[in-house]
Amino acid sequence: MAVERTISIIKPDAVAKNVIGAIYSRFEQAGLQIVAAKMLHLSREQAEGFYAVHRERGFFNDLVGFMISGPVMVQVLEGEDAILKNREIMGATNPKDAAPGTIRADFAVSIDENAVHGSDSPETAAQEIAYFFQPNELCPRTR
Ligand code: PPS
Repeated sequence: MAVERTISIIKPDAVAKNVIGAIYSRFEQAGLQIVAAKMLHLSREQAEGFYAVHRERGFFNDLVGFMISGPVMVQVLEGEDAILKNREIMGATNPKDAAPGTIRADFAVSIDENAVHGSDSPETAAQEIAYFFQPNELCPRTR
């Protein structure tokens, strides 16, 4: 297993529910370390750029509108198999399909407001980390 980094976003619905700390606990319990974090209220341009790969999909405008509806918490998670591990603890995209005990099963109610985002591959993770963070904003553990 390789040590990886991945992007996690706590979406506006979960920030509004005041469960940032509860979600951070899930990351820590899974052995993932938060090595960078920032709270942002995304502009439409930022959200459209982040989700550009989904531009042609029918839900694109709704997704962008949701992502700019309130602040988000963006973090870089680091650990063994961080990309897959984060997606496992997030649960399925549609909370109705999410396994019990996953973040989306516990904190999300619908596919369009599904609490968290996580990078889906090493290539995407690298792009998404660079989208939100400068290299010198990452703080890997020294002890
Ligand atoms: S995934 O996670 O990429 O495999 O899932 P996918 O189905 O391709 O969805 C991509 C992102 O779009 C969001 N999504 C939606 N938003 C609004 N309405 C509808 N119907 C909808 N369906 C999917 C989904 O939550 C994914 O967002 P992120 O932030 O990437 O998880």
